[in-house]
Amino acid sequence: AELKQLVRRLPKTELHLHIEGSLEPDMVFALAERNGISLPYASAAELAQKYDFENLQSFLDLYYQATDVLQTEEDFFDLTWAYLQRCAAENVVHVEIFFDPQSHTDRGIPFAEVVQGIDRALQQAQSELAISSQLIMCFLRHLPEDSALETWQQAQPWLHLIHGVGLDSSESGFPPELFQRVFAQARAAGLKCVAHAGEEGPADYIEQALDLLAVDRIDHGVRITESDTLMRRVAIEGIALTVCPLSNVRLCVYDQLADHPLLSLLDDGLQVMINSDDPAYFGGYLCANYDAVIDALAPNQAQIVQLVKNSFAASFMPEVEKLARL
Ligand code: HPA
Ligand code: ZN
Repeated sequence: AELKQLVRRLPKTELHLHIEGSLEPDMVFALAERNGISLPYASAAELAQKYDFENLQSFLDLYYQATDVLQTEEDFFDLTWAYLQRCAAENVVHVEIFFDPQSHTDRGIPFAEVVQGIDRALQQAQSELAISSQLIMCFLRHLPEDSALETWQQAQPWLHLIHGVGLDSSESGFPPELFQRVFAQARAAGLKCVAHAGEEGPADYIEQALDLLAVDRIDHGVRITESDTLMRRVAIEGIALTVCPLSNVRLCVYDQLADHPLLSLLDDGLQVMINSDDPAYFGGYLCANYDAVIDALAPNQAQIVQLVKNSFAASFMPEVEKLARL
């Protein structure tokens, strides 16, 4: 209980958060009503009952379906603002937010509506909640690289609002090597690069993300435990892994949180930290993830402090602000 209090007192960052994954069942219903969309569920409670996933794909199927209620700039603002208010309540002072433009533009929502709504909430959070933020545009890896390249073109007028690019969606069978051209363009434009790798996919995908996409951080990355060589390399190079404990259990990467390698990775010197991934679907926001780790893995206080420190060290905050926090 003392450690859980400490977690709440400490300022924290969140570096792995899909804004569409913060869409709560209640908001799905509210937005469906506002936009005149009929849902195949009678209530938010009935929808929430479907959140019983077998793997990444069974989650993604529901997740993309729920995003259909997001239509206007105001919807994207409301979604993002709700998440940022949660951050304020949990003392999360800096966030790096993923969004999936293709899941909106592919159903006719203009890129501008999406990015402007999200950005307006981020600006308001800076001024009203003192929360700093960066926006990371993810490419959907189940779609061809040409679609990612087209999205990269659509993003050009908005690059002043976008700090990085990422890679997400179905991992197995969609290796990082398929996206070398679009990542090269993003890097040449000065954006940070990250990729989901080693969540369901093999450790080799982590290596590909580093060697072929030149990523600055790996999202998830837990299957790195399958390669001692890669573990040593990632530790030496100081590559961070944005770990998401509740997500890994809900998507059956591990049977139970007690089996999770978070603390052994930390003790091996890897730069890991705790994140919530898709909190509306996986059982809670950042503090809930810390609480679950405390209950299942019994970290000591030094380990908790190191996880929180890593969340700042691995962030893309300006170095000067980072130093002030460490
Ligand atoms: N993995 C891949 N794609 C995703 C995830 C995830 O955990 N969450 C939202 N899109
Ligand atoms: Zn993710």
